[in-house]
Amino acid sequence: MSVESCTAFLRVARQDARVRQQMKAMTGIAEVIRLGRVHGYRFDDRDLMMASSSAAADDEGGGEREPEPAPPADAATAFYHYEYDMERIPGFAAVIEELPKLKIKPDTVDLARFDERFRLEDLRSTSMVPGGSDHRRWRAGLDAQVDRETRRDFHLINLDDHVGHAAYEEYFAAKTRLVDALEDVFGGEVRFSGSMWYPPSGYRLWHTNETQPGWRMYLIDFDEDFDDPQHTSFFRYLHPDTGELVTLRERPRLVRFFKIEQDPERLFWHCIVNPTRRHRWSFGFNVPGTWLDDLAGLS
Ligand SMILES: [Fe+2]
Repeated sequence: MSVESCTAFLRVARQDARVRQQMKAMTGIAEVIRLGRVHGYRFDDRDLMMASSSAAADDEGGGEREPEPAPPADAATAFYHYEYDMERIPGFAAVIEELPKLKIKPDTVDLARFDERFRLEDLRSTSMVPGGSDHRRWRAGLDAQVDRETRRDFHLINLDDHVGHAAYEEYFAAKTRLVDALEDVFGGEVRFSGSMWYPPSGYRLWHTNETQPGWRMYLIDFDEDFDDPQHTSFFRYLHPDTGELVTLRERPRLVRFFKIEQDPERLFWHCIVNPTRRHRWSFGFNVPGTWLDDLAGLS
């Protein structure tokens, strides 16, 4: 275990085209440590932290994760979300082919323990206006009771935290192929931003992601169709211009794009709730700001 070993691996990750693609498919620290080991480099999370910060400090531009350029100030977006059926997006056949291999339920996840952490009052906070007085009061109460073991705003499973199960290798290979497929469609760099499994009653409470501005694309799918289109999982956001709560009901094989803003006046407050018996998966990506032009002709 050493920082040197980790530094050497990060160098390979920048220079070797295949490893570079694999790095774009990972969002978890455990994943990077595992991939390093696969390539013969042994390091731990502390080594990774130190090696990453010194790589960032003396990076000459070929860095591991380049910041997205800030959007021009006059490029305010009138539309805050776009949704499509996956089948309708040109070039998405290869994406659809990989999706079943990503919808995993790692056997290292303890679902009974997950269910114990469900809190009805937390779920109900998704009906409040974020930043409003009710939400602020509720949030202050939550912050006062927070313990380090649990993050109550995430009642979901981050698949990329689970690398020690038998299905991981095939899952990771599928993620890497998916990055290739999406880069073919968009003609620019695509990176995973998160791979989430929302079991029944899963939720992600109101948040803004303001530290990572730019366009995000999510591939969303389920274990089965919904019986009732009025009783589904949903994505909800606070419209930055009108202040209205917009609730987007979901269906299988859905692609959603939305834009994360950094301007304090235009933060993109959003939350996700799965109040159903279906299992929901969502795979997020940072996509080029030109994505709408790349998919020209869709409406
Ligand atoms: Fe988010």
